[in-house]
Amino acid sequence: MTSEDQPLEPTFYDAVGGEPTFRKLVDEFYAGVAEDPLLRPMYPEEDLGPAAERLRMFLVQYWGGPGTYSQLRGHPRLRMRHAPFTVGPRQRDAWLLHMRHAVDTLNLPAEQEATLWEYLERAAMFMVNTMEE
Ligand code: HEM
Repeated sequence: MTSEDQPLEPTFYDAVGGEPTFRKLVDEFYAGVAEDPLLRPMYPEEDLGPAAERLRMFLVQYWGGPGTYSQLRGHPRLRMRHAPFTVGPRQRDAWLLHMRHAVDTLNLPAEQEATLWEYLERAAMFMVNTMEE
């Protein structure tokens, strides 16, 4: 039996548990950012909630979930959107530290965890826009 409106393979988004998984990831990450003396001052808004929502919608869309991010924000162009902020090696390392902790709280199967983590590490390297300390 075939079906044309159902993908044969679940998306990575579905495989790791869908929206609740990405919500937990981003909530854990922002709990770390909220306490980080280097990263916290970088966020323009007093309330980290809207920034958390943008990151969550982006990751959901990237991994095959609903495309709400682009409906609301347009093309991601993430490097360009980070250009106003100093993202050097220290900021990247701090970002990855909180993200590593957040990924650990998900207790994903090893293969899924590696897939997610390799992407996040690569994306964080890509976002660096200055080598100055
Ligand atoms: C490497 C260190 C990084 C730092 C220091 C950093 C910092 C920031 C800051 C300060 C903002 C603005 C907050 C806001 O949304 O109002 C932002 C936005 C955002 N960041 Fe990052 N970021 C980093 C890496 C990443 C990575 C690796 C990703 C994706 C995997 C990412 C995804 C996003 C998204 C989706 C937004 C919202 C863009 C928008 O629609 O306006 N960031 N980031």
